[in-house]
Amino acid sequence: MGYPDHRPRRLRRTPALRAMFRETDLSPDRLVLPLFVTEGEGVRQPIASMPGHARLSVDNLVSECEEAHRAGIGAVILFGIPFLKDARGSEGWSALGIVPRALAAVKRAVPDLTLWADVCLCEYTEHGHCGVLRDGEVDNDATLPLLSRAAVAYAAAGADVVAPSDMMDGRVGAIREALDEADHAKTVIVSYAAKYCSAFYGPFREAAGSAPKSGDRRGYQMDPANAREALLETALDIEEGADVVMVKPALPYLDVLRAVKDEFGVATAAYQVSGEFAMIEAAAEKGWIDRERAVMESLVAIRRAGADAVLTYFARDAARWLA
Ligand code: PBG
Repeated sequence: MGYPDHRPRRLRRTPALRAMFRETDLSPDRLVLPLFVTEGEGVRQPIASMPGHARLSVDNLVSECEEAHRAGIGAVILFGIPFLKDARGSEGWSALGIVPRALAAVKRAVPDLTLWADVCLCEYTEHGHCGVLRDGEVDNDATLPLLSRAAVAYAAAGADVVAPSDMMDGRVGAIREALDEADHAKTVIVSYAAKYCSAFYGPFREAAGSAPKSGDRRGYQMDPANAREALLETALDIEEGADVVMVKPALPYLDVLRAVKDEFGVATAAYQVSGEFAMIEAAAEKGWIDRERAVMESLVAIRRAGADAVLTYFARDAARWLA
Protein backbone atom coordinates (compact mmCIF):
# COMPACT_ATOMS: atom_id res chain seq x y z
CA MET A 1 0.00 0.00 0.00
CA GLY A 2 2.09 2.90 -1.17
CA TYR A 3 4.17 4.38 -3.91
CA PRO A 4 4.45 3.44 -6.77
CA ASP A 5 1.07 1.63 -6.70
CA HIS A 6 -0.48 4.82 -5.35
CA ARG A 7 0.21 8.15 -6.96
CA PRO A 8 -2.21 10.78 -5.54
CA ARG A 9 -0.93 13.24 -8.14
CA ARG A 10 -2.89 11.33 -10.84
CA LEU A 11 -6.13 12.93 -9.67
CA ARG A 12 -4.54 16.37 -9.65
CA ARG A 13 -3.33 16.26 -13.22
CA THR A 14 -6.17 18.05 -15.04
CA PRO A 15 -8.72 20.69 -14.03
CA ALA A 16 -11.54 18.26 -14.84
CA LEU A 17 -10.14 15.53 -12.58
CA ARG A 18 -9.53 18.02 -9.80
CA ALA A 19 -13.05 19.40 -10.10
CA MET A 20 -14.67 15.98 -10.19
CA PHE A 21 -13.03 14.72 -7.01
CA ARG A 22 -12.92 17.95 -5.04
CA GLU A 23 -14.24 17.22 -1.55
CA THR A 24 -15.63 20.62 -0.64
CA ASP A 25 -17.64 23.00 -2.76
CA LEU A 26 -18.55 26.60 -2.38
CA SER A 27 -21.48 28.42 -3.89
CA PRO A 28 -22.99 31.86 -3.36
CA ASP A 29 -26.09 30.39 -1.74
CA ARG A 30 -23.90 29.33 1.21
CA LEU A 31 -22.81 32.93 1.84
CA VAL A 32 -24.30 35.58 4.08
CA LEU A 33 -23.36 39.22 3.50
CA PRO A 34 -23.20 41.49 6.59
CA LEU A 35 -24.56 45.01 6.03
CA PHE A 36 -24.66 48.08 8.26
CA VAL A 37 -27.76 50.23 8.21
CA THR A 38 -28.01 53.75 9.54
CA GLU A 39 -30.42 56.69 9.68
CA GLY A 40 -30.90 59.23 6.91
CA GLU A 41 -31.30 59.18 3.17
CA GLY A 42 -28.76 58.77 0.43
CA VAL A 43 -26.16 57.94 3.08
CA ARG A 44 -23.12 55.84 2.24
CA GLN A 45 -20.38 56.37 4.82
CA PRO A 46 -17.35 54.27 3.93
CA ILE A 47 -15.78 52.32 6.80
CA ALA A 48 -12.04 53.01 6.73
CA SER A 49 -10.93 49.65 8.13
CA MET A 50 -13.33 47.72 5.90
CA PRO A 51 -12.64 48.66 2.26
CA GLY A 52 -15.72 48.35 0.07
CA HIS A 53 -18.09 48.43 3.04
CA ALA A 54 -20.14 51.37 4.24
CA ARG A 55 -22.87 52.40 6.62
CA LEU A 56 -25.94 52.67 4.43
CA SER A 57 -29.24 54.44 4.84
CA VAL A 58 -32.30 52.31 4.13
CA ASP A 59 -32.65 53.43 0.49
CA ASN A 60 -29.05 52.47 -0.32
CA LEU A 61 -29.39 49.31 1.72
CA VAL A 62 -32.32 48.25 -0.44
CA SER A 63 -30.26 48.67 -3.62
CA GLU A 64 -27.42 46.74 -2.04
CA CYS A 65 -29.81 43.90 -1.15
CA GLU A 66 -31.27 43.82 -4.66
CA GLU A 67 -27.75 43.47 -6.01
CA ALA A 68 -26.85 40.74 -3.51
CA HIS A 69 -29.96 38.80 -4.46
CA ARG A 70 -29.20 39.13 -8.16
CA ALA A 71 -25.68 37.83 -7.48
CA GLY A 72 -27.18 34.72 -5.90
CA ILE A 73 -25.95 35.47 -2.37
CA GLY A 74 -27.89 33.30 0.09
CA ALA A 75 -28.77 35.96 2.64
CA VAL A 76 -27.84 39.26 4.20
CA ILE A 77 -27.45 39.95 7.92
CA LEU A 78 -28.30 43.43 9.12
CA PHE A 79 -26.55 45.39 11.86
CA GLY A 80 -28.15 48.64 12.99
CA ILE A 81 -26.31 51.87 13.72
CA PRO A 82 -28.86 53.95 15.61
CA PHE A 83 -29.10 57.71 15.81
CA LEU A 84 -29.45 57.51 19.55
CA LYS A 85 -27.78 55.26 22.10
CA ASP A 86 -28.97 54.90 25.69
CA ALA A 87 -28.37 52.80 28.79
CA ARG A 88 -30.81 50.06 27.79
CA GLY A 89 -30.23 50.04 24.04
CA SER A 90 -33.84 50.93 23.33
CA GLU A 91 -33.28 51.60 19.61
CA GLY A 92 -32.29 47.95 19.39
CA TRP A 93 -35.61 46.57 20.59
CA SER A 94 -38.06 49.28 19.63
CA ALA A 95 -40.43 48.19 16.87
CA LEU A 96 -39.68 51.58 15.26
CA GLY A 97 -35.90 51.17 15.45
CA ILE A 98 -33.59 51.31 12.48
CA VAL A 99 -33.41 47.55 11.94
CA PRO A 100 -37.17 46.85 11.84
CA ARG A 101 -37.62 49.75 9.42
CA ALA A 102 -34.80 48.46 7.24
CA LEU A 103 -36.14 44.89 7.31
CA ALA A 104 -39.59 46.01 6.25
CA ALA A 105 -38.21 48.05 3.35
CA VAL A 106 -35.95 45.27 2.10
CA LYS A 107 -38.66 42.62 2.49
CA ARG A 108 -41.00 44.76 0.38
CA ALA A 109 -38.40 45.36 -2.35
CA VAL A 110 -36.72 41.93 -2.41
CA PRO A 111 -39.23 39.45 -0.96
CA ASP A 112 -37.22 36.38 -1.99
CA LEU A 113 -34.00 37.40 -0.28
CA THR A 114 -33.49 35.65 3.07
CA LEU A 115 -33.11 38.28 5.78
CA TRP A 116 -31.08 37.74 8.93
CA ALA A 117 -31.03 40.21 11.79
CA ASP A 118 -28.27 40.25 14.39
CA VAL A 119 -29.71 40.49 17.89
CA CYS A 120 -27.53 42.29 20.42
CA LEU A 121 -27.51 45.48 22.44
CA CYS A 122 -23.91 46.66 21.99
CA GLU A 123 -24.59 48.83 18.94
CA TYR A 124 -27.44 50.52 20.83
CA THR A 125 -26.10 51.07 24.35
CA GLU A 126 -24.16 54.21 25.24
CA HIS A 127 -21.73 52.07 27.30
CA GLY A 128 -21.15 49.64 24.42
CA HIS A 129 -21.82 46.43 26.33
CA CYS A 130 -24.02 43.66 24.95
CA GLY A 131 -26.48 43.84 27.84
CA VAL A 132 -27.74 46.20 30.52
CA LEU A 133 -25.39 47.12 33.35
CA ARG A 134 -25.91 46.74 37.06
CA ASP A 135 -23.11 47.80 39.41
CA GLY A 136 -20.74 47.92 36.46
CA GLU A 137 -21.51 44.35 35.37
CA VAL A 138 -23.64 43.05 32.54
CA ASP A 139 -26.83 41.77 34.14
CA ASN A 140 -27.64 38.53 32.34
CA ASP A 141 -31.25 37.98 33.35
CA ALA A 142 -32.28 41.61 33.02
CA THR A 143 -30.98 41.56 29.44
CA LEU A 144 -33.01 38.55 28.27
CA PRO A 145 -36.39 40.33 27.97
CA LEU A 146 -34.80 43.11 25.89
CA LEU A 147 -33.17 40.64 23.50
CA SER A 148 -36.50 38.84 23.23
CA ARG A 149 -38.28 42.08 22.38
CA ALA A 150 -35.69 42.81 19.71
CA ALA A 151 -36.10 39.36 18.18
CA VAL A 152 -39.89 39.69 18.09
CA ALA A 153 -39.67 43.18 16.58
CA TYR A 154 -37.32 41.92 13.85
CA ALA A 155 -39.44 38.86 13.10
CA ALA A 156 -42.55 41.03 12.86
CA ALA A 157 -40.76 43.39 10.47
CA GLY A 158 -39.73 40.61 8.11
CA ALA A 159 -36.62 38.85 9.44
CA ASP A 160 -36.54 35.19 8.39
CA VAL A 161 -33.69 34.56 10.81
CA VAL A 162 -32.71 36.15 14.11
CA ALA A 163 -29.15 35.70 15.26
CA PRO A 164 -28.39 36.50 18.91
CA SER A 165 -24.72 37.48 19.30
CA ASP A 166 -24.76 38.80 22.85
CA MET A 167 -23.60 35.61 24.67
CA MET A 168 -26.03 35.95 27.57
CA ASP A 169 -26.90 32.61 29.17
CA GLY A 170 -30.40 31.41 28.35
CA ARG A 171 -31.07 33.87 25.55
CA VAL A 172 -31.90 31.28 22.91
CA GLY A 173 -34.61 29.76 25.09
CA ALA A 174 -35.98 33.17 26.02
CA ILE A 175 -36.06 34.29 22.40
CA ARG A 176 -37.67 31.05 21.19
CA GLU A 177 -40.41 31.35 23.78
CA ALA A 178 -41.05 35.00 22.96
CA LEU A 179 -41.14 34.33 19.21
CA ASP A 180 -43.58 31.44 19.62
CA GLU A 181 -45.84 33.47 21.89
CA ALA A 182 -45.90 36.26 19.31
CA ASP A 183 -46.89 33.82 16.57
CA HIS A 184 -43.45 33.68 14.96
CA ALA A 185 -42.90 29.95 15.26
CA LYS A 186 -41.40 29.89 11.76
CA THR A 187 -38.63 32.34 12.53
CA VAL A 188 -35.24 30.62 12.52
CA ILE A 189 -32.77 31.13 15.36
CA VAL A 190 -29.09 31.09 14.43
CA SER A 191 -27.25 31.31 17.73
CA TYR A 192 -23.74 32.62 17.97
CA ALA A 193 -23.13 29.56 20.13
CA ALA A 194 -19.35 29.71 20.43
CA LYS A 195 -18.48 33.36 20.19
CA TYR A 196 -15.00 34.19 21.40
CA CYS A 197 -13.72 37.36 23.00
CA SER A 198 -11.60 38.22 19.99
CA ALA A 199 -9.26 40.97 18.83
CA PHE A 200 -10.54 40.27 15.32
CA TYR A 201 -13.74 42.28 15.90
CA GLY A 202 -11.77 45.55 15.80
CA PRO A 203 -12.94 46.91 12.44
CA PHE A 204 -16.58 46.00 13.19
CA ARG A 205 -16.49 48.04 16.36
CA GLU A 206 -15.21 50.99 14.39
CA ALA A 207 -18.02 50.47 11.89
CA ALA A 208 -20.69 50.19 14.56
CA GLY A 209 -19.15 52.49 17.17
CA SER A 210 -19.78 49.63 19.58
CA ALA A 211 -16.50 49.24 21.47
CA PRO A 212 -17.21 49.07 25.22
CA LYS A 213 -16.51 52.44 26.87
CA SER A 214 -15.07 50.70 29.92
CA GLY A 215 -13.88 47.19 30.58
CA ASP A 216 -14.13 44.45 27.96
CA ARG A 217 -16.33 41.53 26.97
CA ARG A 218 -14.40 38.79 28.78
CA GLY A 219 -17.23 38.37 31.28
CA TYR A 220 -19.59 37.08 28.59
CA GLN A 221 -17.70 36.19 25.39
CA MET A 222 -15.60 33.03 25.45
CA ASP A 223 -11.93 32.69 26.33
CA PRO A 224 -9.95 31.91 23.14
CA ALA A 225 -8.16 29.13 25.03
CA ASN A 226 -11.33 27.08 25.45
CA ALA A 227 -12.65 24.40 23.09
CA ARG A 228 -14.43 22.00 25.44
CA GLU A 229 -16.51 24.91 26.68
CA ALA A 230 -17.60 25.59 23.09
CA LEU A 231 -19.26 22.19 23.05
CA LEU A 232 -21.08 22.98 26.29
CA GLU A 233 -22.27 26.35 24.91
CA THR A 234 -23.43 24.65 21.72
CA ALA A 235 -25.22 21.83 23.56
CA LEU A 236 -27.10 24.37 25.68
CA ASP A 237 -28.14 26.42 22.67
CA ILE A 238 -29.40 23.35 20.79
CA GLU A 239 -31.33 22.29 23.88
CA GLU A 240 -32.85 25.78 24.11
CA GLY A 241 -34.04 25.58 20.52
CA ALA A 242 -31.31 26.94 18.24
CA ASP A 243 -31.92 25.84 14.64
CA VAL A 244 -28.38 26.68 13.56
CA VAL A 245 -25.27 27.06 15.69
CA MET A 246 -22.45 29.40 14.82
CA VAL A 247 -18.75 29.58 15.58
CA LYS A 248 -17.08 32.99 15.50
CA PRO A 249 -14.47 34.06 14.43
CA ALA A 250 -13.88 31.45 11.74
CA LEU A 251 -10.29 30.93 10.59
CA PRO A 252 -8.60 31.05 14.02
CA TYR A 253 -11.24 28.60 15.35
CA LEU A 254 -11.50 25.94 12.64
CA ASP A 255 -10.75 23.25 15.23
CA VAL A 256 -13.78 24.39 17.23
CA LEU A 257 -15.93 24.43 14.11
CA ARG A 258 -14.89 20.87 13.24
CA ALA A 259 -15.51 19.70 16.82
CA VAL A 260 -18.98 21.27 16.87
CA LYS A 261 -19.93 19.69 13.54
CA ASP A 262 -18.61 16.26 14.56
CA GLU A 263 -20.18 16.34 17.99
CA PHE A 264 -23.67 17.56 17.05
CA GLY A 265 -24.04 17.17 13.29
CA VAL A 266 -26.56 20.00 13.17
CA ALA A 267 -26.83 22.95 10.79
CA THR A 268 -23.74 25.03 11.39
CA ALA A 269 -22.53 28.49 10.41
CA ALA A 270 -19.23 30.30 10.82
CA TYR A 271 -18.51 34.03 10.79
CA GLN A 272 -15.41 35.25 8.99
CA VAL A 273 -15.24 38.45 11.02
CA SER A 274 -14.16 41.97 10.22
CA GLY A 275 -10.55 41.50 11.37
CA GLU A 276 -10.15 38.39 9.22
CA PHE A 277 -11.47 40.41 6.29
CA ALA A 278 -9.22 43.38 7.07
CA MET A 279 -6.08 41.23 7.30
CA ILE A 280 -6.59 39.82 3.83
CA GLU A 281 -7.47 43.25 2.41
CA ALA A 282 -4.41 44.88 3.95
CA ALA A 283 -1.97 42.20 2.82
CA ALA A 284 -3.46 42.18 -0.67
CA GLU A 285 -3.24 45.95 -0.89
CA LYS A 286 0.46 45.71 -0.14
CA GLY A 287 0.79 43.14 -2.88
CA TRP A 288 1.89 40.51 -0.38
CA ILE A 289 -0.83 37.98 -1.21
CA ASP A 290 -3.13 37.31 -4.14
CA ARG A 291 -6.47 38.66 -2.96
CA GLU A 292 -8.82 36.39 -4.89
CA ARG A 293 -6.88 33.24 -4.08
CA ALA A 294 -6.54 34.12 -0.40
CA VAL A 295 -10.26 34.88 -0.12
CA MET A 296 -11.38 31.71 -1.85
CA GLU A 297 -8.92 29.58 0.08
CA SER A 298 -10.18 31.00 3.38
CA LEU A 299 -13.82 30.40 2.45
CA VAL A 300 -13.22 26.83 1.29
CA ALA A 301 -11.26 26.16 4.49
CA ILE A 302 -14.20 27.33 6.58
CA ARG A 303 -16.58 25.11 4.60
CA ARG A 304 -14.16 22.17 4.83
CA ALA A 305 -13.99 22.53 8.62
CA GLY A 306 -17.75 22.02 8.86
CA ALA A 307 -19.63 25.23 8.12
CA ASP A 308 -22.77 24.92 6.01
CA ALA A 309 -23.16 28.68 5.84
CA VAL A 310 -20.42 31.30 5.95
CA LEU A 311 -20.94 34.90 6.98
CA THR A 312 -18.35 36.92 5.11
CA TYR A 313 -17.63 40.48 4.04
CA PHE A 314 -16.27 38.93 0.84
CA ALA A 315 -19.69 37.56 -0.21
CA ARG A 316 -20.05 39.97 -3.15
CA ASP A 317 -16.60 39.26 -4.57
CA ALA A 318 -16.88 35.54 -3.98
CA ALA A 319 -20.26 35.38 -5.72
CA ARG A 320 -18.77 37.19 -8.70
CA TRP A 321 -15.76 34.88 -8.85
CA LEU A 322 -17.99 31.82 -8.55
CA ALA A 323 -20.37 32.96 -11.30
C1 PBG B 1 -22.42 42.27 18.23
C2 PBG B 1 -21.55 41.68 17.19
C3 PBG B 1 -20.19 41.86 16.98
C4 PBG B 1 -19.86 41.18 15.82
C5 PBG B 1 -21.03 40.58 15.38
N1 PBG B 1 -22.06 40.88 16.25
C6 PBG B 1 -19.21 42.69 17.71
C7 PBG B 1 -18.71 42.29 19.03
O1 PBG B 1 -19.08 41.28 19.61
O2 PBG B 1 -17.91 43.08 19.53
C8 PBG B 1 -18.50 41.13 15.20
C9 PBG B 1 -18.50 40.96 13.74
C10 PBG B 1 -17.22 41.28 13.07
O3 PBG B 1 -16.18 41.58 13.67
O4 PBG B 1 -17.25 41.21 11.85
N2 PBG B 1 -22.22 41.78 19.50
